[in-house]
Amino acid sequence: MIKLHDLYFKPFISEKEIDSAVQNMVDGIASDLGDEVPVFIGILNGSFMLVSDFVKKYPKPCEVTFIKLASYEGVKSTEDIQRLIGLTQDLTGRTVVILEDIIDSGNTLEEVHRIFENENVKQLLIATLFYKPEAYDKDFKLHYVGMEIPNKFIVGYGLDYDGLGRDLPDVYQLKTTQHMTNIVLFGPPGAGKGTQANFLKEKYDLIHISTGDVFRFNIKNETALGMLAKSFMDKGELVPDQVTIDMLNKEVEKNAGANGFIFDGFPRTNAQAKSLDKLMEDKDSQIDAMVALEVDDEVLVERLLKRGETSGRTDDADESIIRNRIKQYYTKTAILKDYYTDQNKYFGVDGVGSVEDITVRLSTVIDKL
Ligand code: IMP
Ligand code: MG
Repeated sequence: MIKLHDLYFKPFISEKEIDSAVQNMVDGIASDLGDEVPVFIGILNGSFMLVSDFVKKYPKPCEVTFIKLASYEGVKSTEDIQRLIGLTQDLTGRTVVILEDIIDSGNTLEEVHRIFENENVKQLLIATLFYKPEAYDKDFKLHYVGMEIPNKFIVGYGLDYDGLGRDLPDVYQLKTTQHMTNIVLFGPPGAGKGTQANFLKEKYDLIHISTGDVFRFNIKNETALGMLAKSFMDKGELVPDQVTIDMLNKEVEKNAGANGFIFDGFPRTNAQAKSLDKLMEDKDSQIDAMVALEVDDEVLVERLLKRGETSGRTDDADESIIRNRIKQYYTKTAILKDYYTDQNKYFGVDGVGSVEDITVRLSTVIDKL
């Protein structure tokens, strides 16, 4: 992933793929033109890299020149095309091949045709490395297309975002979701996960997705997914992962513009962790870290027994039940600890101390993500 100015881009087309697309264009044009000496005209600025690679591959004599047109502002095409450098040679009777880096709306191409209206060339052929069919709204024929691409903004290989990115040998695509910080929060019962989740949510402006809450919400509101989940629960069966993932997906989509998410209560298994990775990947995002509050068993037992005195929660009153819950937590999360450690994404944070001390420790981890 790369950042240019304020935006994030992800790898999209490799140098190698570009090279073979350029080669295909060269082969097609060379075979069609035979021994004719064409004039290749690059449209500056974007096409400089393509033109250079293209003519190096071109197997026969040819001429090369450039015209300079400008239409783009930021990541949007504008109607208003400026001619910055025009034609400087007589092209009467010549075969002209326009070499474009990309054809998007076709506005630039329209201007190119206007420029050649009275030039009396033998033929005007249009070749473009990249072509966005969904954006193109003109009727001019495109004689040679290197690669069709979706209607998303790209940079690299001559193409820029406000001046940056032209120098990159590969092509990158604008991420649909900009940068998010996504955390999977873990902690044994009594570790203070809820308190800390509330704090992190405020400080980093993250959305806290507690799987338990999401389930209760869907069932209470009788959503389609809630009813589906309930049908399994009523039969005493486990709710399939896909149902849970679909619910989480809805929560993520509801908050598409968020700075990120704190996942709480999910994943619990390797398969779930993989599904969550996939979900975030589909959103052009990722899980950045598993943050686990680490607290010694004896401290947890003491804290929970104390909580039990006032909370009235029966599962907090009995020491052997408490110890069993803690044990269960470690058995379940050990696999996930390995899963995230393998990706250098596991961060254990000392959960003993004052609430403030612990939040400072958590912030130190998150600030580095
Ligand atoms: P059109 O006039 O809309 O066809 O756009 C053509 C020009 O806009 C290209 O020559 C580029 O300079 C620029 N352009 C179009 N799409 C992109 C893109 O995805 N990234 C960077 N520049 C683009
Ligand atoms: Mg251009």
